[in-house]
Amino acid sequence: MFKIFLLYIVWFHEIVDADGTKRPLKRWMLNDRGEKAEFVPENSLQTLEKISSGDKLKAQCHCGGVKFYITRPNEASKKVQSPFPDLQVPYHSHSNANPENKTWWLRDNDTKYLAGTCTCTSCRQNLGMEIQTWAFVPKCNIFKEDGSPLDFHLGTMKTYPSSEGVFREFCGKCGATVFWHCEERPELIDVSVGLLDLEEGARVEGWLDWWTDRVSFEEMAVSRSLVASLEDGLKKWGAKRQGVEAQDIVS
Ligand SMILES: *[C@@H]1O[C@H](CO)[C@@H](O)[C@H](O)[C@H]1NC(C)=O
Ligand SMILES: *[C@@H]1O[C@H](CO)[C@@H](O)[C@H](O)[C@H]1NC(C)=O
Repeated sequence: MFKIFLLYIVWFHEIVDADGTKRPLKRWMLNDRGEKAEFVPENSLQTLEKISSGDKLKAQCHCGGVKFYITRPNEASKKVQSPFPDLQVPYHSHSNANPENKTWWLRDNDTKYLAGTCTCTSCRQNLGMEIQTWAFVPKCNIFKEDGSPLDFHLGTMKTYPSSEGVFREFCGKCGATVFWHCEERPELIDVSVGLLDLEEGARVEGWLDWWTDRVSFEEMAVSRSLVASLEDGLKKWGAKRQGVEAQDIVS
């Protein structure tokens, strides 16, 4: 839960009340619930000093019944085929076809994976929360703890078909959301970001590049104000990140 807090304190700047009034989101210190509560200063959690250059990203659920690791993108990651995700190309208005076989899941000169947020109904109902974070990782870059390639018989993991040809994996013991995969793109798996190594920081930016232009299936979100705040915060964060990069290039 702490990890979720770290994600959202960066992306949520304000809360929109039912009447449309906006107010800043309070940034409580973790242990201060009393009268003398202090606030976390804005931007204090924006960057992680150490961004790992390791070649394995470990992942596990709360009880440890599901453990796996992810490797850096390689040549095999580029050969995967997949239509575009709703995150980048809204399905309600566009076709998801990817006739040129663009490797949209690879980012930062093919060193990182794309990640994003989703507010679709089935994610919400599976997670029990409005916002799911997913990283898009080729199946060939996911390995079991013993180094063998991923299959869906992994420790305490269970599979649930959430719609035709669509499968959701979760831990049968602690209930953690693990993967989403489907028959339409069997070589590319959605990995629940909450399981990834906490040492890498909440947003795992050494491995993931977050899409800030859209929340996947935002039109399905139950709370319009929540998703509006999230999209707004993501866009501001994205612009700020780009600004920093642009400055770095100039100097
Ligand atoms: C994309 O992949 C499909 C299936 O392998 C292939 O038929 C098609 O020619 C590819 N498109 C391009 C532009 O390479
Ligand atoms: C991108 O990766 C290729 C291959 O590793 C390398 O030759 C190139 O210099 C990289 N480009 C940038 C901008 O880092």
